[in-house]
Amino acid sequence: TTSTSTSTKKHLLKLVILGDSGVGKTSLMNRYHSQKFTGQYKATIGADFLSKQVSIADPHTGYVRHVTLQIWDTAGQERFQSLGVAFYRGADAVALVYDVGDGRSFDHLDNWRGEFLRQVGLDEEGADFPFVLIGNKIDRPDGERQVSRQRAERWCEDAGLGRRIGGGPIPHFETSAKTSDNVDAAFLELATLAVIHA
Ligand code: GTP
Ligand code: MG
Repeated sequence: TTSTSTSTKKHLLKLVILGDSGVGKTSLMNRYHSQKFTGQYKATIGADFLSKQVSIADPHTGYVRHVTLQIWDTAGQERFQSLGVAFYRGADAVALVYDVGDGRSFDHLDNWRGEFLRQVGLDEEGADFPFVLIGNKIDRPDGERQVSRQRAERWCEDAGLGRRIGGGPIPHFETSAKTSDNVDAAFLELATLAVIHA
């Protein structure tokens, strides 16, 4: 957009976190939102959101924008997924999360991405919708890794093909909600893409 009027820009940005059950979506949100982590697993039912006020530099204009992020944490469990659709609506950016120690969660990324785009009425080819890919649980011992960084980056290149705005690969982060490694960086990128896209 070439508009310079701040009044036309959205103040509330909706971020949605998608991915298989147990990859750490809730843990990432809680770590980013309030620097908390618990090792306990409590499945998210339906979806839940937290708000956070942040200042983001708009890379196009250079202006710092004060925005409220509404971070939607959705359920990865199959039986709650019919509820998910309503939570996708109005999303400004999406984080796709897998567990670096769980190859199946990586294999399911295409489904999550495709289903999201379908539900919000965007076609998969040439969609300009901003995604960030997050490989979580990098604190796990090396021997437990099932998804290499290279493999994930290849996926990001393939999924980024055909994007017009901000074309090129989908940004990729490897994180740990447990140690907080790279979590802020991943959400900052997500929020920045949302600012550009909104
Ligand atoms: P659903 O709500 O069912 O979709 O799962 P989820 O993706 O929200 O997973 P959740 O955040 O509940 O985490 C699942 C389990 O993984 C919990 O026991 C967390 O403590 C653990 N976990 C989350 N992130 C990490 C991480 O970065 N490292 C390690 N070691 N464990 C993590
Ligand atoms: Mg959860």
